[in-house]
Amino acid sequence: MAIFQEPVRKYLYHLARVDHPVLREMQAYGESKNFPIVNCEVGRVLFQLAEVSKAKRIFELGSGFGYSTLWFALALPPGGIVHHTDADPENTKLAQHYFKKAGLLKKVRFHMGDALESLAKTPGNFDIYYCDIDKEGYPDAYHAIDHRIKPGNMVITDNLLWSGKVAHPNPDASTRAILKYTRLFWNDRNFASSMLPIRDGVGLHLRLKHPRKF
Ligand SMILES: C[S@@+](CC[C@H](N)C(=O)[O-])C[C@H]1O[C@@H](n2cnc3c(N)ncnc32)[C@H](O)[C@@H]1O
Repeated sequence: MAIFQEPVRKYLYHLARVDHPVLREMQAYGESKNFPIVNCEVGRVLFQLAEVSKAKRIFELGSGFGYSTLWFALALPPGGIVHHTDADPENTKLAQHYFKKAGLLKKVRFHMGDALESLAKTPGNFDIYYCDIDKEGYPDAYHAIDHRIKPGNMVITDNLLWSGKVAHPNPDASTRAILKYTRLFWNDRNFASSMLPIRDGVGLHLRLKHPRKF
């Protein structure tokens, strides 16, 4: 199910294009391998949210070969750190290669293995938690993040529209997991949640100081 009419999708994609040589190289690699990355439409949003929230500590769950990670790294102030997590060592190796090429190795910490286990092992709080692991793992990611996130911090989630499958009358297992995760955040009065219907749907969940009034 297409979320956008094709001419509108193409318009938004071209509008988002970037000059950064390493981002462009990563986009071309993703396209050649059919590897799902957030791409520049969403990358720009990640950058903006990190900038506007003055984030210094960011934790990614599911970083692939580091494309979304690099967008966050570009927004970090001196001393800021983004945590890259992936279960596939090849993705981690490739991410290290691209970060070296971009001259941003100082801004990243790499964790290989299960993202939720890596989060559990990493002390401290994060200004932004970003979720893009296997979709069946989304409900567990909600619980892991909810357990430690502090008021004022934000969760950003990719794929909440899942190519429109969330509106299908008979959702499959991964769609059901996305729907469960979405309900968990939307029903949690400690969060203000909203959805940006760009690319595949980006969820924004702000942890509030007081239960929300709406
Ligand atoms: C959609 S890709 C991430 C793309 C990346 N966020 C980007 O936009 O550039 C999802 C990645 O998460 C990894 N992954 C999925 N489930 C995971 C888990 N439970 N723990 C660690 N990595 C996981 C996969 O190996 C894959 O590389």
